[in-house]
Amino acid sequence: MNRTSRPSEDFLTDPVFHVSSLDAVAWLRAQASESVDLLITDPAYESLEKHRAIGTTTRLKHSKASSNDWFAVFPNARFPELFAEAFRVLKRNTHLYLFCDAETMFIAKPEAERAGFRFWKPLVWDKKTIGMGYHYRARYEFILFFEKGKRRLNDLGVADVITVPRVHRGYPAEKPPAVSAILVEQSSARGELVADPFMGSGSVGVAALEAGRRFTGTDLNPEAVRLTTERLRAFAPDAANDARREPEQLGFIDTRP
Ligand SMILES: C[S@@+](CC[C@H](N)C(=O)[O-])C[C@H]1O[C@@H](n2cnc3c(N)ncnc32)[C@H](O)[C@@H]1O
Repeated sequence: MNRTSRPSEDFLTDPVFHVSSLDAVAWLRAQASESVDLLITDPAYESLEKHRAIGTTTRLKHSKASSNDWFAVFPNARFPELFAEAFRVLKRNTHLYLFCDAETMFIAKPEAERAGFRFWKPLVWDKKTIGMGYHYRARYEFILFFEKGKRRLNDLGVADVITVPRVHRGYPAEKPPAVSAILVEQSSARGELVADPFMGSGSVGVAALEAGRRFTGTDLNPEAVRLTTERLRAFAPDAANDARREPEQLGFIDTRP
């Protein structure tokens, strides 16, 4: 589904999403304990700075909403507070998926385990074509698969390599919703709440709402909040028809009556 198309009529009777512009940890702290059914996220990890330095990652487009060429980086030193809060807000028997590169994986995995998560394995997102770079040009990313308590995957026949073409000329480090769609289908049920505290262009939110789940997320970047709001509004006709509200004003949206 493209960004402007509308979901089919039989989609959801009660579509709902929340979008915030708070810092990821501050936003998680504001969520109730054991309130989230699935967390899928893609932090702006420190090692992205290296890809930026050699020009291998897309920059933010200039717009009225953003004068930055790049988004803020989330320091590795903040992983302990991020995972502690993620563990607290997740319900018992749930999953956490963390997109990251080979370098960040070795830092994030022990920190998540210290917070209480069980690490299962890295999944591989195979982007099908090579990217830029110099030494073994990048074709994959990892998605670390963690568990709080014990939850069975919905389909035990799904492979640990997810093959989906990369997004070209999108938001920096944008992920295709088709990748998150597999994680959503595997680790949540219809009507459950999926969260992403580094939502970027909202790809996790799109995957969640397309699959009949609810979505809540945040991003420090105003352009990310605007873009996510625009994409998710396609699933919420009431919000989409409310002409009095500008996307930039919608730090929080609840489409339920
Ligand atoms: C790698 S991008 C996420 C891309 C997203 N998965 C997508 O498909 O578009 C990381 C995002 O984290 C945001 N970010 C950086 N530091 C943050 C923080 N402390 N709290 C919340 N968001 C933050 C950035 O603005 C950026 O949009």
